[in-house]
Amino acid sequence: MENIPHSRPTIGQEEVAAVVSVLQSGQLSQGEHVLNFEKALASLIGVVGAAAVSSGTAALHLALLAMEIGEGDEVVIPSFVCPALLNAIRYVRAVPVLADINPETFNMDVPDLKKRLTGKTKAVIVPHMFGLPADIREIVSLGVPVIEDCAQSLGSHYEGSPTGSFGVLSVFSFYATKVICTGEGGMIASGGSQLLGKIRDLRDYDEKDDGRLRYNYKLTDLQAALGLAQLRKLPALIGRRRAIAGRYHEFFQEHLLSMPVCPSDREHIYYRYIIRTERLLKLLDAGRDAGIAYRRPVFKPLHHYLKMTGYPQTDAAFLRTVSLPIYPSLLDTEVKTIIHHLQSILK
Ligand SMILES: Cc1ncc(COP(=O)(O)O)c(C=O)c1O
Repeated sequence: MENIPHSRPTIGQEEVAAVVSVLQSGQLSQGEHVLNFEKALASLIGVVGAAAVSSGTAALHLALLAMEIGEGDEVVIPSFVCPALLNAIRYVRAVPVLADINPETFNMDVPDLKKRLTGKTKAVIVPHMFGLPADIREIVSLGVPVIEDCAQSLGSHYEGSPTGSFGVLSVFSFYATKVICTGEGGMIASGGSQLLGKIRDLRDYDEKDDGRLRYNYKLTDLQAALGLAQLRKLPALIGRRRAIAGRYHEFFQEHLLSMPVCPSDREHIYYRYIIRTERLLKLLDAGRDAGIAYRRPVFKPLHHYLKMTGYPQTDAAFLRTVSLPIYPSLLDTEVKTIIHHLQSILK
């Protein structure tokens, strides 16, 4: 039994009231609340518009379709990420090309990425891993179209600009334990109204003249009302994450243990707090016994699924990193319990 889960949503009375009011309105599917949620997110990111969809995966799928990426086209992604990116590339029958990560930041390694680019590369999907912005300016300057994956980075900044404002398209996830949640849900933001038009067309199959292949990837007004209530709290939600990270930093500094890095030109939102340790398995086991859910930050690197080699930094991170519980509803007493436990294992 886990007493302290690895993650949980942070839901207050405002969210409950927002959802109840949609229930009472009788308009449950995509409607006015979805429009308002889209406008609010686009304005936060500073782009012309956004289209809400049913998940982050659906957002990635529609982003690739809107960019007309298909069979034989290559799309580069890091190996140290969840399989959602790989799946979206497979949905459109494109070829996934994996890049290694920077061992300090766990984000895509730019020199390695450069080596993976070919004449067939049609896009790079750049996730800002664990809430820390990737080297997005440098990646955009390579001249290959970039899809930013902000599933873990909503509210983080690179050189003062929000992640999600650099790519041709940027995708977000509002899964139950993401930075803000709608249960399941996603969004695609962009400065390009033509791309957004295509995405809006593809997410809804009904009342279209032609017989083109379309999807039902819509978000509901119920979810959007929840998302809007969460988005209003974003500064507080991130503030709480940073406060908990501050407590962890103190502990790791005091004990001269390795802690997450954050280059000075970017702002981390601590979606995850990743530590490096030689005692990975010991920590995972001890956490299980103590009722504290430590986790591997990535369940399995993508090159393991694809039976590929040549990703030494991803392999090293997989063998030596642990993600600690960090979320706004984590209580101070729980943080203390975790720190005491870490002290007993890592000292
Ligand atoms: C970086 C990244 N991209 C995409 C996704 C997929 O989002 P969803 O679960 O909403 O489909 C996730 C989900 O964990 C993620 O972490």
